[in-house]
Amino acid sequence: MRTLREIPALRDTLGECRRRGQRIGLVPTMGNLHAGHLSLVETARHHADVVVATIFVNPLQFGAGEDLDAYPRTLAEDQAKLEAAGCDVLFAPATRELYPRGLERQTRVCVPEVSEGLCGGSRPGHFDGVSTVVSILFNLVQPDVACFGEKDYQQLAVIRKLVDDLHFPIRIVGVPIVRADDGLALSSRNGYLDADERATAPELQRILTELRAALQAGAPIEATLASGLTRLSEAGFIPDYLELRAADLGPVTASTREAVLLTAARLGTTRLIDNLTLTLPR
Ligand code: PAJ
Repeated sequence: MRTLREIPALRDTLGECRRRGQRIGLVPTMGNLHAGHLSLVETARHHADVVVATIFVNPLQFGAGEDLDAYPRTLAEDQAKLEAAGCDVLFAPATRELYPRGLERQTRVCVPEVSEGLCGGSRPGHFDGVSTVVSILFNLVQPDVACFGEKDYQQLAVIRKLVDDLHFPIRIVGVPIVRADDGLALSSRNGYLDADERATAPELQRILTELRAALQAGAPIEATLASGLTRLSEAGFIPDYLELRAADLGPVTASTREAVLLTAARLGTTRLIDNLTLTLPR
């Protein structure tokens, strides 16, 4: 696996691949890789001849008071994991490589509607930061396919709309959530949890699973979500949101069948997100 830090080297390497007729698959990450990230690499390998992973802790998507400085940076371990997973090229640029004029003067991409509410409601500007960096990576790598996790359900929806609206000729592949044995969705932020919080964290998925069963059995939506919020608080979470949306993140209507239950909640200072898809009864 080659690790590249600069744009010209990336362009040269991928230009050669493209001339050889190879299909390119992209897996954007912020590093501190776990089995969830590696399952994206594996999926990309099925769809492409050359897999490019990126590691960039994107300052544009962190709000004031968020964990930009504390975010775990583990490049050497990440390189070993990517190499073992069959990644061909790692692009790990410095901030000034992607944003040479500085963050304030950077051109930004905003995907309206789908970026609003849910995580976009509690993290203003977050999805503009994501959309901007992903657009830059799409332009630099020009992949045929790009893989994103369903763990970040709203992010995946934002990227799908971005690709549609800006006419990027890229196929977006969503990859199922990878969980620990106790059900907790793997996340780089799980490392912030102390032992007690880590023991509580799987309750998030257990509560979502119970709510899903109730909703699939026809329980009234509003009352079920209200009881879910109470359950989250009783378990020790500080809920940020708990919502039922149509699978495309539009509002649930009488005709909605495919839906998704989404939550974000804090345990101490750590913000966790999770979601489960479900089919509503007629
Ligand atoms: P990061 O949080 O590092 O996640 C990189 C990719 O891994 C995302 O597509 C995310 O959905 C996926 N992922 C994370 N945990 C997962 C899990 N448990 N199962 C399956 N997939 C999982 O998401 C970002 O970085 C950034 O916003 C980025 C897209 C790289 C833009 O900066």
